[in-house]
Amino acid sequence: MLLPLPSTTTPTSSPFLSHHPNGLKSSSISGASKLSNKERRFIRKLGLAKISATFELKPPPYPLNALEPIMSQETLEYHWGKHHRTYVENLNKQIVGTDLDGLSLEEVIVNSYNRGDLLPAFNNAAQVWNHDFFWESMKPRGGGEKPSEDLLKLIDRDFGSFEGFVNEFKTAAQTQFGSGWVWFAYKDSRLDVGNAVNPLRSDEDKKLVVVKSPNAVNPLIWGYYYPLLTIDVWEHAYYIDFQSRRPDYISMFMDKLVSWEVVNSRFEKAKAVVEQMEREDERKRKLEEQRFTTDEAPANAIFPDTDAAAE
Ligand SMILES: [Fe+2]
Repeated sequence: MLLPLPSTTTPTSSPFLSHHPNGLKSSSISGASKLSNKERRFIRKLGLAKISATFELKPPPYPLNALEPIMSQETLEYHWGKHHRTYVENLNKQIVGTDLDGLSLEEVIVNSYNRGDLLPAFNNAAQVWNHDFFWESMKPRGGGEKPSEDLLKLIDRDFGSFEGFVNEFKTAAQTQFGSGWVWFAYKDSRLDVGNAVNPLRSDEDKKLVVVKSPNAVNPLIWGYYYPLLTIDVWEHAYYIDFQSRRPDYISMFMDKLVSWEVVNSRFEKAKAVVEQMEREDERKRKLEEQRFTTDEAPANAIFPDTDAAAE
């Protein structure tokens, strides 16, 4: 069965996917992702080969017992070894033989979000990405106040202080109703994002923000959020170690697990991408101006400005 993909969300047309620091992680997908969409369609048409990509379960960047005693090996074996693995296996079953087969994980997420009318693969694809991002957001003996100087400046500007940020993040994580995620992100001001529900410019543009998302939803689908840090607030994340006491889990995550080195690095990449996109926008604007001036020239020659002619 071929799934309909809205033309506005094709991966090649998305500014997010071509520029986002978290986009197109080819390591998470096998060889088929190296082919272009055109090549894949061509090969399918000819019936020369079955193009099938298999996502793999990516291990956390540390041993399963490395976050003890805060997050136990038992939790990692259950959370990563069972839940995360199931998302990967279900995703592979769902996309085989569809138009999503052969796309990168990020492309599957954006396409299957389908402007909020979710295609079947969305939840599993997003959960695979979310968990990869979550494991990489932590490290043994993490936590504390270690944002880079640049990041701390923006945190002070947008949250008043580091404590202000931590409080807002904790409150969001505690008040996310049911299962979901909380994200610390850099929000750009893109207005031409086809997949966004409401890409309107707001006072929150070009700022650091804390956002909550239900179930598997993540900020990639809007294309103009650059996630820097996330916490999984599904109960399976804290059931074993904290007996479902979510506030205790959130506090320990912030105090003892967050990898600020990773957050700092994601922030630097996000800023670089946004600056590159701004330069590209400026280049396009100038080109458009030049084209407009060139197009206008013959008309001016025929109907010269009377004031200028009188001088
Ligand atoms: Fe989880």
